[in-house]
Parts: sequence; C-alpha cells; structure tokens
Amino acid sequence: MSSKTHFLLNDKEIYATEHPGMLVLDYLRRIQKLAGTKEGCREGDCGACTVLIGEPDGDSVIYKPVTSCMMPLGELHGKHLVTVEGLNMPHLSPVQQAIVDEGATQCGFCTPGIVVSLTGYLMKDTKEITREGVKKTLSGHLCRCTGYRSLKQGMAFLKKTVENRTGTRSLILNKMIPEYFSQIPARLRRIPAVNINNEEKMPEYFIAGGTDIYIQRGDFLPESQVYILNLRPEMKGVSKENEYVRVGALTTFEEFANHPEIIRIIPDIQAYFLRVASLQIRNRATIGGNIINASPIGDVTILLLALESMLVLKNGERSRTVPITSFFKGYKQIDKTPSEILVDILIPTPSADTKINFEKVSKRKCQDVASVNTAMKLRSEYDIIREMVLSMGGVAPVPLLLKTTCKYFLGKEVSRETIEGAFPIIQQEISPVSDIRGSAEYKRLLARQLLIAHFTKLFPEKVKLRDFYETD
Ligand SMILES: Cc1cc2nc3c(=O)[nH]c(=O)nc-3n(C[C@H](O)[C@H](O)[C@H](O)COP(=O)(O)OP(=O)(O)OC[C@H]3O[C@@H](n4cnc5c(N)ncnc54)[C@H](O)[C@@H]3O)c2cc1C
Ligand code: FES
Ligand code: FES
Repeated sequence: MSSKTHFLLNDKEIYATEHPGMLVLDYLRRIQKLAGTKEGCREGDCGACTVLIGEPDGDSVIYKPVTSCMMPLGELHGKHLVTVEGLNMPHLSPVQQAIVDEGATQCGFCTPGIVVSLTGYLMKDTKEITREGVKKTLSGHLCRCTGYRSLKQGMAFLKKTVENRTGTRSLILNKMIPEYFSQIPARLRRIPAVNINNEEKMPEYFIAGGTDIYIQRGDFLPESQVYILNLRPEMKGVSKENEYVRVGALTTFEEFANHPEIIRIIPDIQAYFLRVASLQIRNRATIGGNIINASPIGDVTILLLALESMLVLKNGERSRTVPITSFFKGYKQIDKTPSEILVDILIPTPSADTKINFEKVSKRKCQDVASVNTAMKLRSEYDIIREMVLSMGGVAPVPLLLKTTCKYFLGKEVSRETIEGAFPIIQQEISPVSDIRGSAEYKRLLARQLLIAHFTKLFPEKVKLRDFYETD
C-alpha cells in the first residue's frame, strides 16, 4: 500500500510519509505539533480527540466528526482533516462564543473536541438547530467538570446567531468558519486517487473503521503490514438489488441507519442506533467490521442475524456467499480464511407484513455495549405466527439464533400463554456466563424480559406488559 498519504490538514496540503497505520491522533500531536486535539481515553469513549473529516461529494465536501484515536493516517488520502486549530479566525466562531458566553468550559480538556463536533453539526444543512440534534452531537463527549448544562444553554445562543445560516457555504459567507473552506472542494479534486495494488503481499491486518482493531492491536498497527480497506470506496454504500438490499461491508453505522432502503425495511433503525456507541464512533464503525469482529454482543450482527443476511466473501477474484446463520463457529471463530475480505452483506427484502424489532439492555442506557441484545423478525396471519427468526447476544459464545424457541412459536396464536410457554425453552437454548456485563442469572432474566418486550412492542393490541407482571 502506498506509503505517501496526500491530504489537506486545515488549510495546508500534506504528503505524509509516516506509517499508514499510525493513528491520526498521534500524527497530529507528535508530528504536526497540533496539541488542540486532546488525548484522553484513546479508546473512542471520551471525544476529546474529535476532528472533522471532509470527503468529496459531487461539487461539495461532507464533513463528519470522528475520533482521531481510532483512525489510521493512511485513510486520510484525498480527504480534508480539520482540527480545532483549523476553525480559528480573528474573531470567535459562534460555537466558541456560545461556550464563552455560557461559561460552558472549566478545565477545558474536553472543550476543543466539543467545539469541533458542534461546528460539524452547523456545517450540515440542518434546517433547524434542535435540542435532539445538539444532544446527538454531544453524545460522544465526556466532560468531567459539569459543562453539560451550560452547553445546552449554549444551544439557545446558537439558535439565535446561526439559525437559517447552517451549511458550509452559508457559514463561510457569514464568516462563521474560516474562508479557506471555500477552496477545499477544488483542492481535494486535484489529489490523485490512491493506487491500490491487489497483488501486494498478504497484509498482517485489515483495518476498516478501526474502532475495534485499534483497541485490540493498537500497539502493533503502526509497525505492521496493514491494508486500509476504506481506500476501496466500491465496498461502501447501500443499494436495492432484486430480492436483496446490498450493504457494502464498509458502510458505516450512521450511513446504514440513515439510508432510505434500510429505513424502509427496518423503520425504527434510527431509534435502535441511538443506543449503539456515539455519533463519532457510528461515523467510523462499519457493518462488516461488526460481523468479522464476531463479538457475541455485536448489535448490528444480532440484527443482521435475525434478518437472515448473506455474506459475500472475496479472495482476489474468487468469491463465495455464506449465510450469516452458519458463519459463527465458536467464540470469535468464523467461517473465513485470513485472506478473505467481507465485501457485501445481502439482506433479503422482508415481505410488507413482516415485523422487525430490536432490543438492548446495557449497564448505561447509551454509549455502552450490551449485556443482552436481541432481534426478532416475525410474520403472522390473523395473529397466528407463520414465520419467526429470533437472535440473541450475550447468552452464548456466539451471536445466537434461537432455533428451537422459534420452532415452538410456529402456528401458535400470539397470546400471554403462548409467550409464557416459551420461557423454559429459551432457558434451555441459552448458556450465558457471568462477566463484567452481568451475572448468568441476570442474563437469563433479561432473555425472558426481552422476549416479552418483542411481543408487547410488535403486538400491543394482543399483549401488554401488565399481563406478565400484575398479580391478583
Ligand atoms: C467507544 C466504542 C463504543 C462501541 N459501542 C458499540 C456498541 O454499542 N455496539 C456494538 O455492536 N459495537 C460497539 N463498538 C465496537 C465496534 O465499534 C464495532 O464492533 C464495529 O462494528 C467494528 O467495525 P470497524 O469497522 O471499526 O472494525 P475494525 O476495528 O476496523 O475491524 C474489526 C475486525 O474486523 C476485521 N475486518 C473489518 N472489516 C473487514 C472486512 N470487510 N473484511 C475482512 N475483515 C474485516 C479487521 O481486520 C478486524 O479484525 C464500540 C466501539 C467503541 C470504540
Ligand atoms: S482520546 Fe478519548 S475518544 Fe479519542
Ligand atoms: S471542562 Fe473540564 S472536562 Fe470538560
């Protein structure tokens, strides 16, 4: 893989010769001496290292906040990297002014990342600055000095000063971000595409979003043979293809949850994903990475398992398709050779009368991995269950398909009695262990409760929560 990474850093053109697996955070602080980007947790949790990544989109550039402690330098090729220093002007920007006016900073360690994220929010063509939008933007930021209340007050200030003037062009015109942003689309277009040589020797590591591999192997990546999958844009995107929705393995969680084809088949996807990581992580984490990671509690994996997805794996020109239902062989063991790349996920389009639901219980409501998560796909006729697929995470060494439980439900009417009849079956099928996310007993209880939750959500007129808990 090319050792020169050609990109724009704020208003500067860069030809970086450092190792492509080096973290963007380390490159900024150690090589460029741009110390405004802070190093906090180095695990994607605190948001102190947030930067904006701009990618060409037609004539313009789309900016997204990401954590620089999860991103390889080599992926910056052809992109615009914006740090807090790159947002400075002779006067304060509206975001900086709002933070000053509302006293929304104390030690200031978290503040640069927050300024970057909020600026990224204003750079979107957001029609309206909303409380929900600001909350989502700040979801990946920890502030230990209680700045949250004043940050929310800062929203009122932003509404007053920026409302109706959001979007990169408008912000430039109104001198709310530096003028150099206007030249960025043309400057990015002049950067030649990177040349990926498929014949290169087998890499030691594939990196997609990096949100898992940098935590597991972060010390080794800057000195190993790495293959940066994100330099292959053809592996991104969602499209409708005959009876499938095709999802490129490099599609990020955010791209997935916002795509109309996905919303059509999983109408509540955006609500589900608010419980998955933070905005910055969802802008990096890929659907393929979640599957290959093979965590028994991967949220997207559990959803795709219930949707009976197919996985397209490629090794050079050779390609094979395997059902996700038989992909997980044991704890972190998958049906994939080291040189195979997951390129596509094919989701069979569910019929119009199919209902889908996802549930997750974690120690923290947001920004936390699951203790137990589960997804259900179900089709019924006059409340008689005709088809059902139920998956569950955190209750076995693999993301688990509850085949026996599903078989029990087939042909039965949705009722409290039917659901209660499944309780002993589900307990037979799962084998949770006690760990940091809860005791085995607690996870068994969650399995029962979440089964109830699926049915009360999908059939509110047939079964209610109180049916299971009220005593005479
Ligand atoms: C702060 C934080 C919060 C998180 N919260 C959640 C959460 O709520 N729910 C959840 O499910 N996960 C969560 N995660 C875990 C992580 O974000 C996901 O597992 C993510 O999907 C991994 O994808 P990635 O693209 O970042 O993978 P990477 O880290 O790039 O790769 C993971 C593994 O998969 C391999 N790989 C990746 N893509 C391919 C491919 N296409 N072909 C072959 N091999 C490939 C890599 O070599 C590596 O071994 C969180 C992570 C962090 C840091
Ligand atoms: S240093 Fe905490 S998210 Fe990157
Ligand atoms: S101001 Fe100190 S951590 Fe946020």
